[in-house]
Amino acid sequence: MNVNWFDSLDSTNSEALRHLADYPSGTVLAAREQTAGRGQRGNSWFSEPGRNLTFSIVLKHVGLKAADSIRLNALTSVAVASFLERYGVNPVIKWPNDIYVGGRKICGMLIENSLEGALVGASVMGIGININQREFPQLANATSLVLCTGKEEPLEQALEVFLDIFERLLPALDSAALWDSYSQRLYRLGVQARYHDLLRDVEFSGVVEGVDPDGRLRIRDLSASCIRLYRFKEVGYIL
Ligand code: BTN
Repeated sequence: MNVNWFDSLDSTNSEALRHLADYPSGTVLAAREQTAGRGQRGNSWFSEPGRNLTFSIVLKHVGLKAADSIRLNALTSVAVASFLERYGVNPVIKWPNDIYVGGRKICGMLIENSLEGALVGASVMGIGININQREFPQLANATSLVLCTGKEEPLEQALEVFLDIFERLLPALDSAALWDSYSQRLYRLGVQARYHDLLRDVEFSGVVEGVDPDGRLRIRDLSASCIRLYRFKEVGYIL
């Protein structure tokens, strides 16, 4: 992988998308500071300059069907989870791809794909991992690697550790093994909890059973004794 460090960018995802044609597959754009970091659902991503990893990986023509694009979420999620495990931390994956430790968010991802017919042509996989930041004034529920381990990590080195794991997993993008690693680490897997069905606007008690190959979250509704399948933004976790 070809790593490019920037002192400051608006957003590593925006930079990658602006010049997508110029960045070959395997390019990594990492920023010490993002002035307009972007999160899911049009939210901002806040990160103290010089304290965390904020980077994007450009992948092109990996031969993935657009219908299987959830596998990119699985790949990055398992890579981040394995990275954190390397430091002795015990993360879970909150579907589709937030990483939590002890009930607090340590990493968010924004995966933006461009399609070529029925295939994913290019993918910009933006990843923000909180590494050395200790206070999160804008966020109620965040944590970082240093808060988990008590030890600061040099960012360049941490990115190398992550990319090494990512590169090893990449050939397994389409494998059952990757899917198992993703499913086994799901937040609340097999545990009874409360959910908000945003389409019907009702709350219910259910158990996460896994993620279907099309990316929908599978929850057993205990009140209605049926399986419910949700796309992103169709269900909320009640804490
Ligand atoms: C989220 O949880 O809402 C997704 C956050 C994604 C943040 C990363 S940081 C690197 C990349 N560049 C961005 O502007 N966003 C992603």
